[in-house]
Amino acid sequence: MNTAATTRPTPRDQNPDDGHDLLEVIDLKKHFPIRSGFFSSQEVGRVRAVDGISFSIKAGKTLALVGESGCGKSTVGRLLVKLLDPTEGSIVLDGVDLAQASGEQMQAMRRQMQMVF
Ligand SMILES: Nc1ncnc2c1ncn2[C@@H]1O[C@H](COP(=O)(O)OP(=O)(O)O)[C@@H](O)[C@H]1O
Ligand SMILES: [Mg+2]
Repeated sequence: MNTAATTRPTPRDQNPDDGHDLLEVIDLKKHFPIRSGFFSSQEVGRVRAVDGISFSIKAGKTLALVGESGCGKSTVGRLLVKLLDPTEGSIVLDGVDLAQASGEQMQAMRRQMQMVF
């Protein structure tokens, strides 16, 4: 994956309570298996759509993920909202690891995050 990520201040930066890591992504990977045939379960290779990325976003900040087509941006978005499960790595939102979040915690988090298609 060949991407550049930058953070820039948003109006909410004025809030002195901001500044903690709202989102932390650690060594995140998503590999898609390539099978030998449509009905085959034999894995002949893998698409390494996301292969070990780490970043954090502080409360009140905006992060832009920029890169060429097919470099894994949408896959990262889908992982963050749990439309996909990671192959490896972790996503911590407001101190809660998404992989270990209870149904109740996930419900609360779903109210705070969304994809804009
Ligand atoms: N469900 C999937 N199965 C297999 N390969 C996928 C799947 N989703 C994405 N990919 C592949 O993963 C790579 C990254 O895709 P994507 O995250 O959509 O890139 P971007 O959004 O940066 O254009 C591409 O090679 C794409 O073909
Ligand atoms: Mg995309």
